[in-house]
Amino acid sequence: MTHLLQNYGTRIPMTFTHGEGVYLFDETGKKYLDFTSGIGVMNLGYSFEAGKAAVKTQVDALAHLSNLYNNPLQEEVADLLEQADDYKAFFANSGAEANEAALKLARLIRPGKEILAFEDGFHGRTFGAMSATMQDKIQNGFSPMVSGFSKAIYNDVDSLKASVTPQTGAILFEIVQGEGGVTPLTAEFAAALKSCQEQGILLIVDEVQTGNGRTGKLFAFEHFDLQPDIFTTAKGLGNGLPVGAMLVKNCYADCFSAGKHGSTFGGNPLAMASAKAVLTELTSDGFLAEVADKADFLKAQLKEKLASKPTVKAIRNLGLMVGIQLTDGTQLQEILSDARAQGLLVLSAGKDVVRLLPPLVMTKAQLADGVAILEGIL
Ligand SMILES: Cc1ncc(COP(=O)(O)O)c(C=O)c1O
Repeated sequence: MTHLLQNYGTRIPMTFTHGEGVYLFDETGKKYLDFTSGIGVMNLGYSFEAGKAAVKTQVDALAHLSNLYNNPLQEEVADLLEQADDYKAFFANSGAEANEAALKLARLIRPGKEILAFEDGFHGRTFGAMSATMQDKIQNGFSPMVSGFSKAIYNDVDSLKASVTPQTGAILFEIVQGEGGVTPLTAEFAAALKSCQEQGILLIVDEVQTGNGRTGKLFAFEHFDLQPDIFTTAKGLGNGLPVGAMLVKNCYADCFSAGKHGSTFGGNPLAMASAKAVLTELTSDGFLAEVADKADFLKAQLKEKLASKPTVKAIRNLGLMVGIQLTDGTQLQEILSDARAQGLLVLSAGKDVVRLLPPLVMTKAQLADGVAILEGIL
C-alpha cells in the first residue's frame, strides 16, 4: 500500500536509477533517449559536471542561508542574466511561485486592476497562478478563483481587443503555450500585445518553460520586439535544483518594498550555486547559437520524416520546444508508450500533441536517432 497521495494518477511503471548525458537508465539497465528533460528542467543534461561540482562544493560550504543576510550568489546569478541592467530579480523555488510574485507585484503596480490571461495557458497550481490558468481541467473543483482575472483567446487579436478594458492592468502570457499544446506566439499577436503595453498595460511574460535557452535565446521574448515589464522563469534555471525567478523592470522595482514578499528557501545558496553554473554555461560563447542551429536541424528532420505522415496534422516549434500535433483519432498515449518501449521518452501537451523538449546539449546525431524512432511509430 502506498502512503503517497494519488494526485499524479497512476504513474508510468518505470523506475529510473540514473542519468548520463541525454540518457536515462531504468533499474533493468535499459537506456532511454530523453526528449523530455524532466519536463524542461534538465536542459544541460544529466552530466552537467560544472553544475554538479558547484552544488557539491556549496553543500559542503553552506547549503542554506536565510534571506536576512547578504547572499552574494544571488547577486552573481542576477548579474549573469543578459537583462541584468534593466531588471531586478527576486528568487523563488518553482514556476508557480515565480508567477505568484509577478501577480502580486502587478497588483501593487496597478492597484485594483485586472490581469488578463489566455485560454490554454498554463501558469501553475497555486491559487493565483491557477486563477490565471484559463483551463477548466485545472480550475475544476477549486472555485472560487482569486478575483480580478479575465481571459482572452491566445493569438487572436480581435479577442484581445474585445477583452482589454480600462480595468485591465496587466496581461500574462507565454511566448510558446507549452502545456496547452506547444503554440508559439505569432508576430501579429506580439505587436498587438506591444500596443497594449504602450497604452500602459503591463506585460508579464511567463518564461517558466520557454526560458533558459530552450528556444535558442536566453529568454524567448527576445525573438520578438517585446520588452516585458515583468518576466518569470524556473524549470531549466537550476538544471535539477528547484529555482524560480521573477524579474521586473527597474522602474517598478520599488513597488516590492520591504515586507511585501519573501520566501524562506528562495535563492538559497545551494539553488544559486546551480543557477550560476547553468547561466554561466548558457551565456558562454556560441552556446545559444548552437542551440538555434540544432533546433533548425531538428525541425528539418521532423519536416522531412514526419510531416507527410497521415497521423501528423502539424509540426510547430520555437527552438528546441517542439509540438507534433496528431490527426483526429490518433492515440496520443499509445504513441508515448510505443516510444518508451523503443527507448525514447517524449511528452504530451494539450489533448493531441506530442511534445519534445530535448536537452539543449543533445547532439544532432542523437536528435536524428529520436526522430527515426518517431518516424517508425507515427
Ligand atoms: C509556462 C509555465 N508556467 C508555470 C508552470 C508551473 O511551474 P511549477 O510546476 O514549477 O510550479 C509551468 C509548469 O509546467 C509552466 O510550463
